[in-house]
Parts: sequence; C-alpha cells; structure tokens
Amino acid sequence: MSANQSALLYLLASVLFILALKGLSHPRSARRGNLFGIVGMTLAVVTTLTITRRIDIALGMMVLGGAIGLIVAKRVQMTQMPELVAAMHSLVGMAAVLIAVAVVSNPLAFGLESPIPMGNRIELFIGTFVGAITFSGSVIAFGKLAGLGKYGRIFSSAPVAFRGQHIANLVLALVMLTCGILFIGASTDAQWTPFLAMTGVAFVLGVLVIIPIGGADMPVVISMLNSYSGWAAAGIGFSLNNSLLIIAGALVGSSGAILSYIMCRAMNRSFFSVVLGGFGGAEGEASTDAGQKSVKSGSADDVAFLLGNAESVIIVPGYGLAVGRAQHAVKELVEKLTAKGVRVRYAIHPVAGRMPGHMNVLLAEAEVPYDQVVEMEDINSDFNSTDVAFVLGANDVVNPLAEQPGSPIFGMPILEAHRSRSVIVNKRSMAAGYAGIDNPLFYMDRTMMVFGDAKKVVESIVKALE
Ligand code: TAP
Repeated sequence: MSANQSALLYLLASVLFILALKGLSHPRSARRGNLFGIVGMTLAVVTTLTITRRIDIALGMMVLGGAIGLIVAKRVQMTQMPELVAAMHSLVGMAAVLIAVAVVSNPLAFGLESPIPMGNRIELFIGTFVGAITFSGSVIAFGKLAGLGKYGRIFSSAPVAFRGQHIANLVLALVMLTCGILFIGASTDAQWTPFLAMTGVAFVLGVLVIIPIGGADMPVVISMLNSYSGWAAAGIGFSLNNSLLIIAGALVGSSGAILSYIMCRAMNRSFFSVVLGGFGGAEGEASTDAGQKSVKSGSADDVAFLLGNAESVIIVPGYGLAVGRAQHAVKELVEKLTAKGVRVRYAIHPVAGRMPGHMNVLLAEAEVPYDQVVEMEDINSDFNSTDVAFVLGANDVVNPLAEQPGSPIFGMPILEAHRSRSVIVNKRSMAAGYAGIDNPLFYMDRTMMVFGDAKKVVESIVKALE
C-alpha cells in the first residue's frame, strides 16, 4: 500500500472516530457512535497491518491482547468499570514509555535519523513523561478504586498526605524537566542517563500526584488520566510519524479534559482543588450524628400504596441502583405504575453513580424508553409539583446540604427531591454516601425510608402492586 493510500485510510478512520464521539454524546445515538468507532478502529488496525514490517508479531500480539481483553470485559461488573478504565489507561501509558525506549535505542528502525534530531527528542520527552505519569498514576487510581488499601496505604481510598507534599512534587517536576532538557541536548552516547532518570522520576511523580486524591474525586482523576493517556499517544504519534495516532491521541486527550471539566462543574469543585487532593474520606463512612435523629421507615407495601396512588412520580437513581443491579426490576415497576395511569420519569444527575453516564447506561441496558429519562436541569423545576420522589440508592446527588453555605458540598448542583410533596428513600442503612456526609433529606417529615437492597425492595413493591 502506498503512503498516500494509507494516509487516506487513516484520514477516513479519523473522521469515523470523530463521528463516534459525536454519537456517544447522547444515549439515543450512542449505539450508532459505537458502530462508527468499531468500523474506524477496524480500518485503522487493518491499514496499520498492511504497512507494518513484522505482521507476524503484530497479529500475535493482537490475538493475545484481544483474548485477554475479551475475558476481562466479560467478567467485569458494571460497578467495576472505573477501575477497568484505570487499568486500561495504565497500559496506554506504559505502551508510550516502551515505544519511546525502543525509538531511543534504535531510531533507524522507526524511520528516524541517528542521532535523533532535536524536534523528535522533544516529542519523545513529552510522550515518555506523560506516559510514565499516566502509568503509575493509573495503577494507584486502580488500587484505590478496587479497595486495595489493605495491601498498602498508597492504595487507601482516603487521601494520603504528608508535610511538604506539594513542594516535593514541584522539586521532582523540576528534576524531571532538567533531565528532559539534558536528554534533548545530549549526544547519542550520553542520552540514556538523563532519559532513564527522567522516566524514573515521572513514575514516582505519577504516584505522588494521585495518592492525596480521595476516593470521591477518583472518577475525575480517571478522566484526567484518560486525557493524559491521549496526549502521551499523540506525543508518540509524532515520534513514529503516524498521523492516526496523533489525531486519535488528541481526540482522547481533549475529550478527557472536557469530561474532567464537566464533572468538576457538576460537583462544584475546581479542577485544581481536585488535583491538589485532600477531599473525600473512606466510602460508606457512617454519618456522625445519624444515630441521634429519628427517621420514618416503611415497608414495600407502604411504598406500593404511595406510588400506586400518586399522579406523578420521579425516580432518582444513584450508585446503589448499580450495586443492587435493580434496573430491570425498576423498569418493571415503572411499567406497572404507568399502566395504572401514574406519570413516571427518571431524573439523572450528571455525577450519579461512579462514572460519567453511569445511570444512562444502566437504564439503557434495561431498555427504559429515552423519553422517560430527564437530565437534572430539565427536571429540577418539576419536583415541587410532583407527588412522590423515589430516591433509589442515591445519596449525595439529592443532599439538600448542598444549598447550605459552609457545608462541604455547598454549591454542588443537586436533584431537588426534597421539594416534592413526599419522598421515599431506599438504601440499606443510614450510612453516608461517597462524600461521607450526613443527608438531612432522610430526616424530613415528608420522607419515608425503606431499608434493604434496591433490587429486593423494588421486586417486593412490584409484587405488592400486583
Ligand atoms: P452515593 O452518594 O455514593 O450514595 C449511594 C447510596 O447507595 C449509599 O448511600 C448507599 O447507602 C446506597 N446503596 C449502596 N448499595 C445499595 C444497594 N444494594 N441497595 C440500595 N442502596 C444501596 O451515590 P450518588 O448519590 O449516586 O452520588 C454519586 C457520588 O459519587 C457523588 O458524591 C459524586 O460526586 C461522586 N462522583 C461521581 C462521579 C460520576 S462521574 N458519576 C464522579 C465523581 C464523583 P447504604 O450503604 O446505606 O445502602
């Protein structure tokens, strides 16, 4: 295949990637977006195979990697998705570092001159340190999300901070930069020492940058690392003179950055306060004064009575719905209520669950009609004219403390379930949500708690309605 033909096919694949991202921006077009992505990636892989010199190695690695990916994807639970994504990012980061090592040791094999020209050295420097930070940062993020705290404090979901942490990070970043500059200006004989030192420091920096970030901010970190992995790939694309890698890397890099920004905004956190860390303690931490206040609790029969006699109901799904895998049961419940003439809609908070679009994906999996699913800004004004807000495994995203100055989540946009005529909350206990703070919604006179696993509770309500 000629260079022009492969460039044209790469361009086509890039257009398909852009269409894929566009499609993924809405649940209704997400399947089409995925299809574009699959076709684009197939085209990219086939084109790369036709221009590669060692097709046997490339195919062998693809089969091996594909088989591992298939097994992992089949086994992973929906709630483990963020940690799977973190693991994937670590691989992208490591790939960038290994490619850079290969290029530095044999530039001629990659079509570069020897000694490596300064422009390529700058690209290699950027690709390597971003890749190394992405690798070690993603390993720590994986450990925090997978609850590996018992294997080492660095994996604790609570922020790990020490005195002078930011200064230490700054000093390491300067050392890394100095080694990078030395590598860029070094002769072929003297290049390895600064290159390896720069890579080693970047690995350490990746660990130190992520450990002070608490579990509650991890999803933002994941999308930030996603962005880094894209830029690392783009940097290596320049070294390999591969236009597709540059375009795909830049798409991943910029979409990850935009996603991080959207998530920060939805949590009312600044990007810097996330990156500097310290927020978000251990998950499920009991609220401090929960024991002293009283709550009203009811049974599935009580809930069925309230829901069955309502005119309008808004269901607020949260992380607990995902943990309980209750989405199919909820869909059945909504069908029963709709048949009785109740108007039911789902209210989606942008950061409900543990990853962007988590609730949309769960509801789409249960084939909930898209017109029943309404985004926060479109439904918030409807709560005060709604009979029942049914909060299912959600906590922080309906916490009215967000409206109180001085609260740790003050300013975070919430679903205003507390404004509806009555509120039903399902969760298993009085434990706090991800942000680790108590929720006054549970103690309101108009609130009824129904304790238990989301799936079991909803199934009992469906039975009671029958
Ligand atoms: P959370 O505040 O974490 O609350 C989930 C609740 O579900 C918990 O209080 C838990 O209480 C309950 N639960 C767990 N398992 C359950 C089960 N099997 N059945 C019934 N209930 C169950 O979740 P949320 O309201 O969805 O808020 C999301 C949080 O994640 C926010 O703090 C948000 O800032 C953070 N976050 C999310 C994202 C994205 S992109 N989604 C990004 C960054 C941060 P019990 O243990 O008592 O059952």
